[in-house]
Amino acid sequence: MNYLEVNDLHVTYRTGGGDVPAVRGIGFSVAPGRKLGVAGESGCGKSTVALALLRLLPKSATVSGQVLLDGEDVLTMKWGRLRAVRWVGASIVFQGAMHSLNAVRRIGDQIAEPLLLHGTATPAAATRRVAELLEQVGLPGWRARSYPHELSGGQRQRVMIAMALACEPRLVIADEPTTALDVMIQAQILRLIDRLVDENGISMMMISHDLSVLADTCDRLAVMYAGRIVEEGPAADVFAAARHPYGRALSGAFPRIGDPASRRAPRGLAGDPPDPADLPAGCSFRPRCPEAEDRCAAVDPVLWPAGPDRAAACVHVLSDDEAAAAGVPVPAAAAPEETR
Ligand SMILES: Nc1ncnc2c1ncn2[C@@H]1O[C@H](COP(=O)(O)OP(=O)(O)OP(=O)(O)O)[C@@H](O)[C@H]1O
Ligand code: SF4
Ligand SMILES: [Mg+2]
Repeated sequence: MNYLEVNDLHVTYRTGGGDVPAVRGIGFSVAPGRKLGVAGESGCGKSTVALALLRLLPKSATVSGQVLLDGEDVLTMKWGRLRAVRWVGASIVFQGAMHSLNAVRRIGDQIAEPLLLHGTATPAAATRRVAELLEQVGLPGWRARSYPHELSGGQRQRVMIAMALACEPRLVIADEPTTALDVMIQAQILRLIDRLVDENGISMMMISHDLSVLADTCDRLAVMYAGRIVEEGPAADVFAAARHPYGRALSGAFPRIGDPASRRAPRGLAGDPPDPADLPAGCSFRPRCPEAEDRCAAVDPVLWPAGPDRAAACVHVLSDDEAAAAGVPVPAAAAPEETR
């Protein structure tokens, strides 16, 4: 059974300027000990999904669908159960997390906090566990007595990873865990997370705008665009030969780790993702798609099978027969004579 299974997840933020449908009906799963990468440009809904998984969204967000963690729906759990599940069932390394350490508390106390809150360790055992965790993330045990300002950015990010691992969670959600770090440290931290989840048999969901990083670390890849998953499959296959034009643009960009330009727009792809509150008719990628056809304005593509163990939300993955069966117009050139 999958450890994490997400079905038809929708998240809409209510704002003064109207509703923002940030996540529009997505589903995916992560098997025990497996790693899923989630890629996509800024604003496509990656962090919103991560936060929804543990019900950490602000009150302005309306959420529907199912988030099954070991078969239990997080979205309908009672608060007491949810508190127990956070940190132990799943933990998150937040985007820019290193800035969220408490400046006036020693890092050892901060790492020990979830252990003590969950009653999984006595104070003496928590101290031993903190030393062990610091060692796992490559920091000497005496660093437990340091304050956050006494650590470099990379060291603080290591502390955040130690915190996420403290209660031996079964799933770690890492939301761009290295964005704020320099290139060399980013690579080190990513390798560290990868090794630790492997060693501990933890499942992982790693979020990044950088498909090449995810292809290196993950088993499967999901590519998001405008609040939907538009491509999904084995990581190496998606990276080597994406079936969706957006997936191809992302993988073709080969962004280097830490390349800020690639975050805003993959090379070779003009324009920006649409405003979620003002999506174009039909396929939401159409205004930027180099392969768009007339019929793309009339269909809202869903994830269709696109090869062994793969799916893509693009009309081009459908044969004419499949298109007809799915109610998608076939291309004008392929339409039978009498219908032209
Ligand atoms: N609290 C909020 N209130 C209103 N809109 C929000 C809120 N948080 C996010 N959004 C909007 O939801 C959409 C998705 O945002 P999200 O942060 O999930 O994107 P992302 O893929 O994580 O982007 P990035 O790569 O920049 O981190 C964006 O259009 C964003 O402006
Ligand atoms: S459905 Fe059409 S517009 Fe959308 S990605 Fe495919 S070819 Fe491009
Ligand atoms: Mg984000």
